[in-house]
Amino acid sequence: MGFKDRDIISIRDFSKAELLKILDVASDMEAYRQEYGESLKGKILASLFFEPSTRTRLSFEAAMHRLGGSVIGFSEPENTSISKGETTNDTIRIVDGYCDVLVMRHPEAGSVRKAADAASRPVINAGDGTNEHPTQTFVDLFTIMKARGSLDSLSIGFIGDLKFGRTVHSLAHALSLFRARMFFISPDSLRMPEGLIHDLEESGIDYVEDGELSNVSRELDILYVTRIQKERFLDQRDYAAVKGIYRLDKSFLSQARPELKILHPLPRVDEINPHLDSEPQSIYFEQAHNGIPVRMALLNMILG
Ligand code: CP
Repeated sequence: MGFKDRDIISIRDFSKAELLKILDVASDMEAYRQEYGESLKGKILASLFFEPSTRTRLSFEAAMHRLGGSVIGFSEPENTSISKGETTNDTIRIVDGYCDVLVMRHPEAGSVRKAADAASRPVINAGDGTNEHPTQTFVDLFTIMKARGSLDSLSIGFIGDLKFGRTVHSLAHALSLFRARMFFISPDSLRMPEGLIHDLEESGIDYVEDGELSNVSRELDILYVTRIQKERFLDQRDYAAVKGIYRLDKSFLSQARPELKILHPLPRVDEINPHLDSEPQSIYFEQAHNGIPVRMALLNMILG
C-alpha cells in the first residue's frame, strides 16, 4: 500500500518495509529540510486535541509550517461546540470539510479509527487513550536507528506503566517485526496487557517480565522509560501504591552496558533524575526533537 491519502491509525497497519521507508524519508527531511519548505503550500492540517499534549501537537504543527502548510484546530475542546453537546462524530465531519488532513488525540481507545471512518480526508492517530500512539513509534524507531544504525535484534527494556502506556504498546509491536528481545519491567498491577503478550508469543518473540530493573539491566541495548499515567487510574489509591516506584539516577549506569541508550517518550515526572540528562546514554530530548523530521516525512508522504 502507498502512503498517499492514507490514514495512520495503528502500527499494526504497517509492514517492516513501510516502517523503514518512513525512517528513510525522515532522514531525507532532516538533511534537506529547506528544500521541502513549500511542498505543502496551500494545504491545511486540522489539529484536534481532546487530551493535553506538548510534543505531539506542537511537532505536528511545526512540521506542517516547515512544509509551507497551514494549521487550524483546538487543544481545549471545552472551547468548541462540543461543550454545547455536539458529538465527536459531527465535529469530525465538519472539520473534514475545512482541511486536507486531520491529526487527532482522544482519551477513548478506538476513537481515532471511528473518526477515520467518518472523515473523507486522511486521519492521523496522535494517541487514542491507552491503546496506541503510532507516530511516537516512528519517532522512537528513528531515534534508535540514528543511535545504533540498525533496528534488528535489539534487547530492549520497557519500564514503568506498561498497562496504560500506549507508546509501549505501539513500539513493542513494531520492534517485534525486527525480532527484538524484550524485557518488561513493571509492578504487577501495570504489566503489559495480556493481548499484547499473546501477540508477542504468537510471533515467537523472546520476552521476560520482571519487577526489578537490576535483574535485567546488563542485558539491555535500549531502556525505554515511561511515566506512571496518573490520569488513567480509576482509583487514585491504586496510583499512590505505584507512584515513584522506579527512579533512575546515575547509579543505574554502573549496572548497564556502556553502549546502552535511554529513551523516554516524555513527559517525565520523577522516573528519570535530571542529573542523567547530560549523560551520553540519555537521548530522550533528541528523541522529542526527532518528532519534526518524522512528522514532516509523514505529512509529505500522505499529502505531498
Ligand atoms: N510523547 C508524547 O506523546 O508527548 P505529548 O503528550 O507531550 O504529546
